[in-house]
Amino acid sequence: MRHFSYKMVKTAKNVDSTKAKLRLPLSVDSEKIPSKPFLKWVGGKTQIIGEIEKHLPVKFNRYFEPFLGGGAVFFRLIPKDKIAFLSDINSNLVGAYLDIRDRIYEVMHYLDRVSGNFVNIEDTNSREQYFYLVRQQYNSLVDSQENSSLKTALLIFLNKTCFNGVYRENSEGHFNVPFGKAKNSNSITRSNILIVSRDLQKKQILHMGFEEVLEKAEKDDFIYLDPPYAPIKKNSAFTKYHSSDFSEEDHRKLATTFDKLAKKGCFVMMSNSDVPLIKDLYKKYERYTVAIDANRNINCKGNLRKPVRELLIKNY
Ligand SMILES: C[S@@+](CC[C@H](N)C(=O)[O-])C[C@H]1O[C@@H](n2cnc3c(N)ncnc32)[C@H](O)[C@@H]1O
Repeated sequence: MRHFSYKMVKTAKNVDSTKAKLRLPLSVDSEKIPSKPFLKWVGGKTQIIGEIEKHLPVKFNRYFEPFLGGGAVFFRLIPKDKIAFLSDINSNLVGAYLDIRDRIYEVMHYLDRVSGNFVNIEDTNSREQYFYLVRQQYNSLVDSQENSSLKTALLIFLNKTCFNGVYRENSEGHFNVPFGKAKNSNSITRSNILIVSRDLQKKQILHMGFEEVLEKAEKDDFIYLDPPYAPIKKNSAFTKYHSSDFSEEDHRKLATTFDKLAKKGCFVMMSNSDVPLIKDLYKKYERYTVAIDANRNINCKGNLRKPVRELLIKNY
């Protein structure tokens, strides 16, 4: 194996001066190009977006997505002239949305650096080494809370090159997904991120738990809830995306919040698993609830895909 040394992507001064060098695709025509999620996220809704679309309220005022993750519903289905509140409890994720909204040139500068170095490496072992060194640098930035836009660029790179392209943290908040042998981390992402930045302008992006942000919701607002699902098997753990769990108690609090929103006159839609706990918590909405088959990757160790029944619960 060739000796390989990693040059850490360094913090640059005056990154905005690179603006002119970016190949911006935001021409008149690109105004029409829709944005897509810029991160692959566990529980992402891209797979069932067609089903969700069929059940959107015909008319609504503002949009809330308090379990944002990769934001598939916002990016694919919500008209971009709507006022939108996009929030999540994961601070690294929310930081990435803020950086892409407010510091896109810095993010692109760093992303070009990190992925440009990667694509020039020919052998897989060296790519793998490079991946783990980027991961180490990313986790040190998580610890130091420094240079958010560099951290965001590294997060996007890791998401595109890690195994199964997902985000997972350990209990210290460190990214811990192994290498996935991706060849090109940049081409898929670059133009979409610029379009994402366009679509995030003027949106409220908040680092908050669901209860706090939903206090802002009013009559005729539409809220799409996509919490970590209740476990299908009795003994399997509640989902872990973030260093804290989403417990049965959290599902009960969410059901109370759902009721409050319904009473206020909001349109509320929730995805969750088809299990007794959830059916029981939302039994008063049974007549508006639909069951759908999602083709989910259910095994984190392999690529086993299997249709899994899940629920779309609504109050309208
Ligand atoms: C199923 S994922 C959402 C996936 C997303 N709909 C998509 O398309 O990628 C659940 C999200 O809920 C977030 N989350 C977990 N507990 C939360 C809480 N108490 N309040 C707000 N967000 C929370 C996680 O960080 C995770 O991003």
